[in-house]
Amino acid sequence: MATDRVIAPTPPDPATPDGLREQSMGRALRPERIGEYIGQPDLLERLRIAIGASKGRGEPLEHLLLHGPPGLGKTTLAHVIAAEMEARVYVTSGPALAKGTDLVGALTRLELGDVLFIDEIHRLPAPVEEFIYPAMEDFKIDVSVDTGLNARTVQIKCKPFTLIGATTRAGMLSAPLRSRFGISHHLRYYDEAELLEILERSARLLSLDAGKASTAALQAIAKRSRGTPRIANRLLRRVRDYADVRADGRLTDALVADALSLEGVDELGLDELDRAYLRAIGETYEGGPVGLETIAATMNQDAGTLEDMVEPFLLQIAFLARTRRGRVLTRAGAAHVGVRLPENAPEADDALFD
Ligand code: ADE
Repeated sequence: MATDRVIAPTPPDPATPDGLREQSMGRALRPERIGEYIGQPDLLERLRIAIGASKGRGEPLEHLLLHGPPGLGKTTLAHVIAAEMEARVYVTSGPALAKGTDLVGALTRLELGDVLFIDEIHRLPAPVEEFIYPAMEDFKIDVSVDTGLNARTVQIKCKPFTLIGATTRAGMLSAPLRSRFGISHHLRYYDEAELLEILERSARLLSLDAGKASTAALQAIAKRSRGTPRIANRLLRRVRDYADVRADGRLTDALVADALSLEGVDELGLDELDRAYLRAIGETYEGGPVGLETIAATMNQDAGTLEDMVEPFLLQIAFLARTRRGRVLTRAGAAHVGVRLPENAPEADDALFD
């Protein structure tokens, strides 16, 4: 399954034994305070100012919307912010909430300054969204009691709290919801130097000191991590297992290459599904343009999975372009999978402005 990929940016599934183990190991590597957080410097600066100001005034932090691709640290940041505010965090997600009243328990238990974290907030059902507006604005909730002729609404006050919403699809948020966040920030992919720093920290936490994990080895992992800390930490654990079982426990760049090619991950962090996708456009459709549904049918894959799990990184590294007439393989993308495009294949830019 596409979600089982070692380079999947999505969180592990705690319903499986491997996923549960990975979730707890992943948590152990998360930074707890702002000072330990690596990367996203402009967001951290905005947060330091906002947190300092609200603590000074004894008020909760303004509601915050974090958007960006999966695996970049949105949930981690919610915990970091709560720790800095010396508050607690209550975690839920858009799809887990069916009706407004599902939030009554949580909202009424929140103390001043606590954080309510809603992941995948773009999937919040409309009635829950309506329910949450007065809570966000006036820290009040309307609850209907009784039915029929006796039906009425009672208003319950909750303590001033901070809502942190996270989404991979900011465009799908309704305008009224978006406008109720005081701070909105896009998380960007991490560069190799930041990923190396994150891996050095994680290696220390996993007791892989400099003698056991060379900088070259960690750099080799950083290069294959698709700009995503969650992937970097997962690859580090895979390579550590490989080093323990197949070698003397020491991580070298050659060992990283061997361990990850065994997982089908190449030197840019692409796996077999990414390469199959690039080859499908390159070989079957001579580089495109071709529609997503057509590619999905050719590969016998689900179009939504390709759109969410495969395309974002290929677009990011400019191996793929999305145009109005369909997907186009770029020359760099074709070269990576060894496909020769016809001389007259459209350049991505031509197709875009067609
Ligand atoms: N920034 C994003 N993810 C991080 C992590 N796991 N550790 C440190 N800094 C990070």
